[in-house]
Amino acid sequence: MGEGSGFGKVILFGEHFVVYGIPGIVSAVDSTADAEVIKNDKIIKVHDDRKGSKGYAEKKKFQQLESIKRMLKKMNLSLENQGLNIWLGGSLPGFSGLGASAASSVAIARAIAQEFHLSFSNQEINDIAYEAEKAYAGNPSGIDNTAATFGGLLWFQKNLKGGPNKIESLSIEKPVEIIIGSTGIVANTKEMVKGVAKRKTRYPEKYDSIFNQAQILAQEARIAIKNFDLLEVGSLMDMNHSLLKEIEVSCKELDYLVDLAKKNGAFGAKLTGGGGGGCMTALTPGKELQEKVAKKIEKQGFQVLRTKIGVKGI
Ligand code: MEV
Repeated sequence: MGEGSGFGKVILFGEHFVVYGIPGIVSAVDSTADAEVIKNDKIIKVHDDRKGSKGYAEKKKFQQLESIKRMLKKMNLSLENQGLNIWLGGSLPGFSGLGASAASSVAIARAIAQEFHLSFSNQEINDIAYEAEKAYAGNPSGIDNTAATFGGLLWFQKNLKGGPNKIESLSIEKPVEIIIGSTGIVANTKEMVKGVAKRKTRYPEKYDSIFNQAQILAQEARIAIKNFDLLEVGSLMDMNHSLLKEIEVSCKELDYLVDLAKKNGAFGAKLTGGGGGGCMTALTPGKELQEKVAKKIEKQGFQVLRTKIGVKGI
């Protein structure tokens, strides 16, 4: 049997903009997707036991199968007359926006490699998971699989010329509490990314100006994180959410969760991931504030993950 894990992630700055080469900041969360793989003699069968949004596994089933086929191709593994039994579990819930697909791809890639006695570097696993991500996101930036592979707190910038992406590890004084609230809506990242591309072509001036602001925000956030200025980080997160609203990737449930978190003392809040449903994240330093904000959101019937950013990666 082969085993493997991948980190869940939360994008703190720059989702969608990263697809176009704008830098982003992403942190792994301290929850993982875990996979076990055993060869079988017929088909590829996935047993998805992850907890999370109702219908998540069902809705992602076809994209998941395509992602596994893409991985096998990238690994040069042809399964003639052979199949795989894959079990998925772990502490990372199957919420849209938490990088559940990338985390599961990394976990499965590592588990397949072990089952077939193949040795891949972490960068190779990252490249394999990037291929898999295309099934879920169409034209992914690579930020999700990078965070899922390496963990930690990262500065990410896609290389639009096809060379290696810029990936830098960011240091932070100490891990900081955040919460992640799920709208419960299973979002389709591929459609959200396509929608931005369409509107960006239709309204080039408006989008150029928003994208410039996103670039400045990411750079300012990097400095604020370095200075451990959490009020500034929070206020930049709020601004980032406004930009995401302007490019029409938020929705009323996400805006509601952002407002609720802010009203209850969060330093900053924004949607995280592809939007259109999925998750909101709020910066809630200290256990007490984290618990207060989490409870208020749970009281309204939403699921919440309490976690930290800035936990060390591999
Ligand atoms: C999804 O977690 C992040 C997006 O920016 C897509 C991507 O970067 O591949 C929406």
